[in-house]
Parts: sequence; C-alpha cells; structure tokens
Amino acid sequence: MSLKDILIYPEKRLRKKSQTVEKINKKIQKLLDDLADTMYNAPGVGLAAPQIGENVRVLVVDISTKEEENSLMELINPAITDSSGTQSSEEGCLSIPGYYGNITRKKKVTVEAVNRDGEKFKIEAEDILARVLQHEIDHLDGILFFDKMAKLKKELFIKKIDKTFR
Ligand code: NI
Repeated sequence: MSLKDILIYPEKRLRKKSQTVEKINKKIQKLLDDLADTMYNAPGVGLAAPQIGENVRVLVVDISTKEEENSLMELINPAITDSSGTQSSEEGCLSIPGYYGNITRKKKVTVEAVNRDGEKFKIEAEDILARVLQHEIDHLDGILFFDKMAKLKKELFIKKIDKTFR
C-alpha cells in the first residue's frame, strides 16, 4: 500500500484510452490498494488508474460519509450495460482540483465488472453512485468531466482551467 501522485490536467496520460486487464495478478491487486489509499488520502469519492499514471481499466469508488463504514468498491474492466433517466449536478475531479461544473449524466446505471479475485459482479446504481461510476469509467476512456459540457460552456471552462494549470 502506498500513496501515489495524482496526475493533474493537462497531463497527457489522462487522455489515453486505458487497456483491458487480461490477467488479475499481484500487480493489479496492489494497484487497487494504491488507488484506495490515494483516494482516501485526497480525499475523494472515486479514483481511476490513469489518474495515477497506470493506463489500465481499474478504478475504486467509495461514496460513504464519515458516519458510515467505508464501503469501498473495486472495479476491474467495468462496463455500463444499462442506463436510464438523467440527473444534473455539480461535479469535480481530483485531476482538476478546485474546479467544478454542472454536468448532466444518466440517473441510473447498471455496471458489470470483475473483482480482485476475478469474479464477475454487477452494481445497480442511481443518483450519486451512478454519477461517480460514470465519471470514473469515463477516465478509462480519457474523458474528463468538462467534455460533457455544451460546446460554449466547455470552451469557457477550458480557458479558465488552462490559466491555472498550463
Ligand atoms: Ni475525476
């Protein structure tokens, strides 16, 4: 277990499409541990492998609040297999610290993935969990949240963040 540096926009590795995990080994299990440590330390509610420089389809999510027990979800090769409705809410990203935007996403999603033991599982998510899963899965395809904004809004947002990060 170790803390990793979170890559910050406009780092190019955030824009790469991540590879499917073919074999779950110690390296992938350690990656899951490192992702969770780094996410909790940030703190954040989700973190995808490309955000720590590993372009593989692995991510972690935990939307529990302080009062609740940690409910860590570890997803390998996640895929959205069904979705419905829409929701719109303010969204941020650990790779674009300090900036937020209103983003429209699916209200409900079904996600299929593999766990660290290689077993398939399915999550039926809605509201915040559905939003975080969509955001993190986007990271695996090199998509950042502002890509979901309308053209003009997106251009303005990029101008703003480019002043800070470039
Ligand atoms: Ni993010």
